[in-house]
Amino acid sequence: MTLPLIPDGPRHYPRAARWLHWLMAIGLIWILTSASVHALLPKSGLDEFMWPTHKHVGTVLLVLVVIRLGLAVAQRAARPRSTSRLASLGHVALYALMLAIPTLGLLRQIGSGRAFSPLGLPLIPGFDGPKIDGLVNLGNDLHGELGWVLLALALGHVLMVIVHVVKGEAHIWHRMRG
Ligand code: HEM
Ligand code: HEM
Repeated sequence: MTLPLIPDGPRHYPRAARWLHWLMAIGLIWILTSASVHALLPKSGLDEFMWPTHKHVGTVLLVLVVIRLGLAVAQRAARPRSTSRLASLGHVALYALMLAIPTLGLLRQIGSGRAFSPLGLPLIPGFDGPKIDGLVNLGNDLHGELGWVLLALALGHVLMVIVHVVKGEAHIWHRMRG
């Protein structure tokens, strides 16, 4: 399909990109809250309610980010241009973390030898015998740490959107709001 030429580029992200952005934002807020509660209030009622969902929500987020990346490539001509080199670098970093963190979580799960069925689907069968130390250590060293980096970057991202709106550049907000 040939898109009409708009001098400033498209004004909104395509509808599917917007839906995926907001769906994933809800999932990421949930999972980062579950991790924060697990770190700050371990074994509290809230932790016991949220933590059991962590691996399941994380796996769904991995599937969603793969779909979102594919769509971003396929629809690149229909997406608004980045406001700056820094904004585009920030978005690339968010994507890299959204891919790496759940992948590391799943690799550690594989290495641990324990079975895992996200939302009841038998994905990782598990095995008897010694753990695969390389995979477990990779997850131990990086998963949680990168998770906190994502939390900081996501907060910075929201702050930048607020800065744009305060500076009178509300069109940046409308790109994603639709
Ligand atoms: C985007 C998805 C994910 C994010 C942002 C995320 C984030 C985090 C963070 C910040 C922590 C540290 C919590 C603490 O220190 O108490 C953590 C821990 C953990 N995550 Fe995830 N996670 C994600 C997906 C997954 C997945 C898919 C799995 C496994 C299938 C998983 C398994 C774990 C486990 C077992 C821990 C506890 C051990 C540890 O502290 O490293 N996570 N996660
Ligand atoms: C309430 C929270 C959020 C708000 C208000 C928000 C708002 C926005 C806005 C207005 C844009 C368009 C910016 C532009 O084109 O320059 C955008 C893009 C983007 N946002 Fe967010 N966002 C939120 C949460 C998140 C979270 C949690 C993530 C991931 C960790 C995220 C990742 C992205 C990415 C990667 C883009 C680039 C467009 C894309 O590829 O989808 N956002 N966001």
